Amino acid sequence: MRKKLFSSNIYPSEITSRTLFDSRRRWLQGSVASLSALAMPEKIVHSREDSKFPAPIDANKSKFSSDEEQTSYADVTRYNNFYEFGTGKEDPFEQAYRLKTEGWRIQVIGDVMRPKTFDMDDILRLAPVEERIYRLRCVEAWSMVIPWVGFPLAKLLNAVQPTGNARFVEFISLYDIEQMPGQKSPVLRWPYTEGLRIDEAMNPLTLLTLGLYGEILPNQNGAPVRIVVPWKYGFKSAKSIVTIRLTEKQPASSWNLANPNEYGFYSNVNPNVSHPRWSQRRERRIGEFLKRDTLMFNGYSEWVADLYRDLDLNKYF
Ligand code: MTE
Repeated sequence: MRKKLFSSNIYPSEITSRTLFDSRRRWLQGSVASLSALAMPEKIVHSREDSKFPAPIDANKSKFSSDEEQTSYADVTRYNNFYEFGTGKEDPFEQAYRLKTEGWRIQVIGDVMRPKTFDMDDILRLAPVEERIYRLRCVEAWSMVIPWVGFPLAKLLNAVQPTGNARFVEFISLYDIEQMPGQKSPVLRWPYTEGLRIDEAMNPLTLLTLGLYGEILPNQNGAPVRIVVPWKYGFKSAKSIVTIRLTEKQPASSWNLANPNEYGFYSNVNPNVSHPRWSQRRERRIGEFLKRDTLMFNGYSEWVADLYRDLDLNKYF
């Protein structure tokens, strides 16, 4: 299945940046490198039978795509939060090889007319290449510009026909202590869960995400499928999801359960509301020295501010 899914012969040309190519070169230099390998054109590097290089997955620019400089591939894939593999920022890069993504399925259940289990081929069929979009900003205490490859989650939700009771969407990540040694620690409630209001989940900026930098998602970034909610802090974007449940009641989320004063249900990027332990006015973009001002809704107000017209964002942080 994996082969069929990812043996695309379209190579990411435009969206493969110089930094990515450079980081691949560095890897090559560190491992098999011979001069001829270094001189290989990018296309051939891609087709190597080498699991270090994920297979390509193509996408297009969209109205949401940012023209800002992208964070380097090395930083995007080495500086991660994925507590199932440890709480250190480099732990996911080192440990996530344990995750087995073959035969992955996502069940979509709850308040829907047509519950369904999707395999990765079903998911790709929901959005042809023309409808896959990329490159969005993301903010945590640090920020990055990541060329995600994904498509609106709404496509999946519409396919299962939410009922009138469906007011929230819950995302549940894989629970498997054998593959995910971090789950032996009670640092968060497992499986990792997150949630959105249904109108947030239906917003075209909420992406079901399958790749980055024109390649299928590396394990440490939440392979094979994760959510990306670019106007919210990073933890709302659950990785390696296996269940999506539509519900009437607001779902619990792992971070909110761990520390409700610090991590609210909404977690919109908002420079005017401080985290109890730090101001959220400014952010450090990885790769830059000076901090920059954080933008309301991470700069996506035009698309999402209306969702919160009637909400006190100080109370519902
Ligand atoms: N999803 C799961 N399953 N487990 C996690 O620990 N961490 C979250 C989010 N999704 C996390 C998760 C946090 S805190 C952040 S900041 C982002 O993933 C980080 O995504 P990235 O490593 O791809 O940049």
